[in-house]
Amino acid sequence: MSQPLRLGIAGLGTVGAGVVKIVRQKAALLETRSGRKVEISAVSARNRDKDRGVPLSDYGWEDDPVALATRDDVDVFVELMGGSDGPAKAATEAALKAGKDVVTANKAMLAHHGQELAQLAEDNGAVLRFEAAVAGGIPIIKSLTEGLAGNEIERVMGVMNGTCNYILTRMEDAGLSYDEAFAEADGLGYLEADPNLDVGGIDAGHKLSLLSSIAFGTQVNFAGVELEGIGCVSIEDIRQAADMGYRIKLLGVARLTGRGLEQTMTPCLVPASSPLGQLQGGTNMVVVDGDQVGQIVLRGAGAGEGPTASAVMGDVMDIARGLRVTTFGQPAATLKPAPAAKATVAAPFYLRLNLQDKPGAMAKVAAVLGEAGVSIDRMRQYSHDDQTTAPVLIVTHKTTRSALDEALAQMGATGVVSDDPVALRIEEV
Ligand code: NAP
Ligand code: HSE
Repeated sequence: MSQPLRLGIAGLGTVGAGVVKIVRQKAALLETRSGRKVEISAVSARNRDKDRGVPLSDYGWEDDPVALATRDDVDVFVELMGGSDGPAKAATEAALKAGKDVVTANKAMLAHHGQELAQLAEDNGAVLRFEAAVAGGIPIIKSLTEGLAGNEIERVMGVMNGTCNYILTRMEDAGLSYDEAFAEADGLGYLEADPNLDVGGIDAGHKLSLLSSIAFGTQVNFAGVELEGIGCVSIEDIRQAADMGYRIKLLGVARLTGRGLEQTMTPCLVPASSPLGQLQGGTNMVVVDGDQVGQIVLRGAGAGEGPTASAVMGDVMDIARGLRVTTFGQPAATLKPAPAAKATVAAPFYLRLNLQDKPGAMAKVAAVLGEAGVSIDRMRQYSHDDQTTAPVLIVTHKTTRSALDEALAQMGATGVVSDDPVALRIEEV
């Protein structure tokens, strides 16, 4: 009979408590599937007295996660505290240096230090796995590193932040204000400790940078992600987009081209009837285009206790079964540098402008767009009570972001555009 696999779990919040529950409630299933018992030796959190909704008295306790990571009775250190640096990084490094395997849900830490931690794992004969860090319960890391390992990946795209998708869909479907939708997401346990990581697009950018690394065999380049959060999206944009058959999503797109690594994580319009447009609430979707397999679409819960703990346990079970895959699907030293490149793929854009309601205003805007080589596909001016400005929507033909930016830079000089125009890419997926 194989020896039990002994876990040390640091972090007993939403995800950590979920992992403890699975290990306790599904012990027989885990043992049958992996051929060995999966046990918890000890745990760590900040507050020992907090009720976590799960019994902890059977386990050892460490106040210091580094002490937990290096205990003799811990085979796998499960890092579920969060934070790119601090205790999470210190304890992960300590575990790897001690030759212990590490499972983490911490995208911030990996986006900033993934390369060096992956190397540290290899140097010490350990594995470092992070399925739960990207797209919650969706097994996208496993799909890319294992099932799709025979493909050249052409593009990775998706909605990877449940909080943002929840907020955007609740604003659209229930007419909630941003604050109301945000509060609901918080109540469901979706939010990061620093909510700006979610709504600022940073969390989703972390995830995209990790997927890019595996997909393209490149070093993690989070700094190279063109980032924009959902703060610029108003209820007005959501309504106008819906009126034209679109929904607004925080969409990540990554491609490796001859010029470098293009990674964008920005609010985009997608057709309401498309799979991405239909994505509701905290659900995530990742779309992968491989040269052999064609297109793969994975959809599932992107956050929350059960889905995230499920992904953590997927990694734990791989280790229990003796499956040892490198962190980014190839040795860390073989990951290529990938300088960031601006996305150049042409796309249609949605523009919302407040124009002064006077003769010739529309003509001036059209002229500025035309001079930058941006062609108008459709436009609408909405009826308005305000006697001085009129809301105008323009959908352009395919154009580059740089041509559009050139036009936007000239808008102020027309003297007829009030407020900063809103410009969102339309992804015809
Ligand atoms: P959480 O609910 O805030 O829990 C964090 C836990 O870490 C708490 O139990 C906290 O202790 C503990 N902790 C913090 N600092 C510590 C320290 N210095 N020493 C020991 N323990 C410490 O966070 P979470 O939502 O479970 O997220 C955990 C990780 O999973 C993060 O990396 C997050 O990005 C990632 N993740 C979360 C989700 C999700 O849906 N929530 C989804 C995917 C990935 P106390 O409880 O005593 O304060
Ligand atoms: N805050 C994250 C989200 C949790 O909303 O997607 C899952 O990573």
